[in-house]
Amino acid sequence: MKMQASSSQIPSPSLGVCYYPEQWAPEKWTADLDAMRELGIRFVRLGEFAWSQLEPNPGEYRFEWMQQLLDFAAQRQLSIVLCTPTATPPKWLVDQMPDMVAVDANGLPRKFGSRRHYCFSHQFYRKECERIVRELARRFGAHSAVAAWQTDNEYGCHNTVLSYSAAALHGFREWLKSKYGSIDQLNRAWGNVFWSMEYRDFQEIELPNLTVTKPDPSHELDFMRFSSDQVKIFNRLQVEVIRQHSPGRTILHNFMGKFQDFDHFALSEDLDAAGWDSYPLGFLSEMKAPDSHKARYLRSGDPDFVGFHHDLYRACGRGRWWVLEQQPGPVNWAAYNPSPYPGMIRFWTHEAFAHGAEVVSYFRWRQAPFAQEQMHAGLNLPNFEPDQAFFEAAQVVQELSGLSLGAVAPAKVALVYDYEAAWTLGIQPQGNNFDYMAVVLSFYRAFRRLGLNVDIISQRASLDPYSVVAIPSLPIVEAEFVEALKRFRGQVLLAPRAGSKTADFQIPQELPPGRLQELIPISVWRVESLPEFAPISVTWNAVLYECHTWLEHVRTNLPPFIRLQNGQGVAYRHGKISYLAVLPGQTLLNAITEELVRSEQLEVEILPNDIRSRARGRLRYYFNYGPEPVILQFPPETRFWLGGPELPVAGVTVVEHEAD
Ligand code: GAL
Repeated sequence: MKMQASSSQIPSPSLGVCYYPEQWAPEKWTADLDAMRELGIRFVRLGEFAWSQLEPNPGEYRFEWMQQLLDFAAQRQLSIVLCTPTATPPKWLVDQMPDMVAVDANGLPRKFGSRRHYCFSHQFYRKECERIVRELARRFGAHSAVAAWQTDNEYGCHNTVLSYSAAALHGFREWLKSKYGSIDQLNRAWGNVFWSMEYRDFQEIELPNLTVTKPDPSHELDFMRFSSDQVKIFNRLQVEVIRQHSPGRTILHNFMGKFQDFDHFALSEDLDAAGWDSYPLGFLSEMKAPDSHKARYLRSGDPDFVGFHHDLYRACGRGRWWVLEQQPGPVNWAAYNPSPYPGMIRFWTHEAFAHGAEVVSYFRWRQAPFAQEQMHAGLNLPNFEPDQAFFEAAQVVQELSGLSLGAVAPAKVALVYDYEAAWTLGIQPQGNNFDYMAVVLSFYRAFRRLGLNVDIISQRASLDPYSVVAIPSLPIVEAEFVEALKRFRGQVLLAPRAGSKTADFQIPQELPPGRLQELIPISVWRVESLPEFAPISVTWNAVLYECHTWLEHVRTNLPPFIRLQNGQGVAYRHGKISYLAVLPGQTLLNAITEELVRSEQLEVEILPNDIRSRARGRLRYYFNYGPEPVILQFPPETRFWLGGPELPVAGVTVVEHEAD
């Protein structure tokens, strides 16, 4: 059954902005806040890097300026997202406890002079964070302007989840002790008899860096799990303090794009809503994709990357999520930093609301003329003139007032995304050109090309709302998930390496796909990986397709439905369970997903390559990501809420449709 929220329960989409009052003369603040108000901004996010201004010397709190700012905001009915400043411990604090810094994989301490120079496992740093958060929450938690809190800033950014510090080593040993109980148990689980890696005591265990060749994969996986837990614990300490002193406020964190170093589903359990920072052009430059793809979408971003993350964080936030930072123009941090097309800021904002965002907050109100990010655009230029994004935000405000956005219903298609899968496959990809994110995205693309909404789910989510569940490579499958799949009545699509490892990172006794053999009677007896220059040709329904990277050899009595040229099977079906023993190229994957979706009678609308669509309530959005205008066909009686049949470059069209 679909959840139908009444319109009063649906938070109206709002705009926000990231503001750094400490970087501007106080005389400018009221003019800035007035201008925000006039623009139609509702949320002002601040404070995340302001520790040295809030506590210039140990214990000497200077909160008056923040009080002043919050009062000014309240007078203007602006709501504040107050961020905790723990991503930027000040110099005096680092000098007080120099071992609080994170240590990189080469054993080198990260130095003061930028940000995120702390180790999540450091017990005294945690206490310092609790202290400053408590002071802030006590002082401002009940302020009428404070509507939400953001914990820290982008956990893990700049490679800071894994720290090879003394604090991490101590914590890891304790974590292992409580997980395994006895050292023999750990030796067995890790297979330490291999290469004489056996330990006699937990105190002998080191962190898995600086080894001569690859460390033991079970050791690495446990270290990733431990490190992920540290981030969750670190976050929870702040959340508990905030809840105590600032009840009723939404608590969020701003996650990142393609960031997998900790389990975002697990951490989000402690939050009220998820947030994320969307920089479509920066992400594209860093993606694993051909140059031709990067050139085509240079000024708009990959057509699926951002949508995927909107859907991911909607899942993490259990339906509630914000874009806490939205790219406003060229950024400073990518390999190259082009300008978005005129209209792209408006486009990205509408796209976030189409996927269900409650708030889109632009980073940042004004470009800074100093320090590391002076080459990063904002809504305003450093000389206080409005920049291009300012006018696009104004346009969005005006357009939103004419759109009535309904509830976000669950999709019919779900894609399983799993952080442990990312770690496991990253530790042992069996080939340099395997990229879990690229595989997941290719599945997402295939469904989106059919005009379908997609939900991203974890292994623990209910499968009830769905007709199709796609599982792109999931080495460690939880027992409850196997049971859920057994009860599921829709189509299941499994990709290579499904069930290929036990929770200890060993090959299952019954051979892959391990427990999934209860769903489909196959066993994988050999796996190979192939280079990019040697694609794999397969035939399906007498058509030739390309596959790549991974090829599995399977024993089964099932007849294959896709074969190599030599007749060897690479795809099998048992009832509604399909297993792919090869990674399909996009064209084949498109064909497979289309067949599955049609077999479940889902309505599809095959979209032109550059167009993406998303339905929300009674509205259906169309977005043109490509460098040319596209004309779409609509029935003559179509009601257009925004745009029309012709989508220009960066064009958005919104039509009325029957809510599904
Ligand atoms: C984010 C970060 C911001 C700012 C921004 C620049 O990763 O949270 O503080 O650095 O990138 O694009």
